[in-house]
Amino acid sequence: MTSDQQPLKRVLVTGGAGYIVLSIDNHHNSHNYALDRVSRIALDALPANASKEERDSATVDDHLGDLTKAEDVRKMFEQYGKGGIWGVIHVAAHKAVGESGEIPLVYYQNNVSATVLLLQIMDEYDCTRFVYSSSATVYGIPPHIPIPETSPLKAESCYGRTKIVSEGLYNPVAQPNRWRAISLRYFNPAGAHPSGLIGEDPRGRPGNLLPLLSQMAIGRVKDKVLKVFGNDYPTRDGTCVRDYLHVMDLAAGHLLALDALDPGSIDKQSWASIPALHAAPALKTPAAAERHDVFRDMKPKEGKFRAFNLGTGRGQSVLEIVEAMKKATGKEFLTEVIGRRLGDVPDLTADPALAEKELGFSAPQPLEVMCRDLWNWQSKNPEGYDTKPANGQS
Ligand SMILES: NC(=O)c1ccc[n+]([C@@H]2O[C@H](COP(=O)([O-])OP(=O)(O)OC[C@H]3O[C@@H](n4cnc5c(N)ncnc54)[C@H](O)[C@@H]3O)[C@@H](O)[C@H]2O)c1
Repeated sequence: MTSDQQPLKRVLVTGGAGYIVLSIDNHHNSHNYALDRVSRIALDALPANASKEERDSATVDDHLGDLTKAEDVRKMFEQYGKGGIWGVIHVAAHKAVGESGEIPLVYYQNNVSATVLLLQIMDEYDCTRFVYSSSATVYGIPPHIPIPETSPLKAESCYGRTKIVSEGLYNPVAQPNRWRAISLRYFNPAGAHPSGLIGEDPRGRPGNLLPLLSQMAIGRVKDKVLKVFGNDYPTRDGTCVRDYLHVMDLAAGHLLALDALDPGSIDKQSWASIPALHAAPALKTPAAAERHDVFRDMKPKEGKFRAFNLGTGRGQSVLEIVEAMKKATGKEFLTEVIGRRLGDVPDLTADPALAEKELGFSAPQPLEVMCRDLWNWQSKNPEGYDTKPANGQS
């Protein structure tokens, strides 16, 4: 974040080399080149007369470290000293629903124990602003669609339960005058940065539908047929429905959350430079600095913690996604319906009204743009970050 008026703020993004935001990362499921490319995009976005401080701030400090190891985390905080890190966006986690049932303790260690450790070390270093990457999976099979934040937290998978337990950690730590924490419950992030420089590149076979389709289209995944898990769900066409939102809109939601932790902490110039924020209702009227306090209704002794859905409020079925990817890639996808997959729920569509009202969030980019940007990334990087570009740059 840069400003003429405000000092630069250092925000740590754990797991920053992964798909969603771009760090301390052990590159378990990512590549460090991603961060070089993030820096390149940030530098390109600066005006020609940018100061040295602004240019320095566009470079992502990449710390190789494992969040389950106290020495790795402490070493990184020590480098910046007490108060040297303004806030943390805690993205890093294991996230495969099926795998979480096979190795539950690994998931609890990586997703819950590591979060406890991180919060303890943040406390030691007077870093008490926290944004957490949660997931729609916390709702399990919700009683109402679209799903409001008040829906019961009843995850069907071990992965989902690690997200519920982690969210629960913030209430006790969120001492009213010290901690402020926001949990963002992502629905289905999709797409890529429109430059095609950064995108989703999981190690191994993609677990999510859109990257699987794009890797099939490029020939990286050799399957001839897409297996569809069940077409007998109570949905439009019988296949599961999910709420896909553009990853750039999701990224914008993180800036809004950071600002909500401390209203006015992000300056107006920064807002203006982010296209995905242009449709955010809060930006049309009062300036970010004048937005209300999202913690205003908390009781005096209650921890300052809020959870928000980040989604579009529109669901798309598996078959609709296949159709959209056919259009984006010009490729045919054969599908074969097989039985339901354990842990899948029929419909996860967000009610994003609270995030719209309180954070000024919106996710305006439609599915066609998500598929177009995903395919742009995939076709420019057939082997993901391992693709060797013609000009020799990473
Ligand atoms: N992608 C989705 O569909 C989705 C949906 C809802 C929520 N989420 C949540 O969003 C977050 C990010 O998801 P993503 O899709 O970017 O995942 P990802 O796997 O691409 O990124 C996670 C990053 O965390 C790193 N990491 C994992 N464990 C670590 C550890 N112990 N120490 C250091 N680094 C570690 C990985 O190397 C990776 O770079 C996760 O918390 C996930 O639960 C993702």
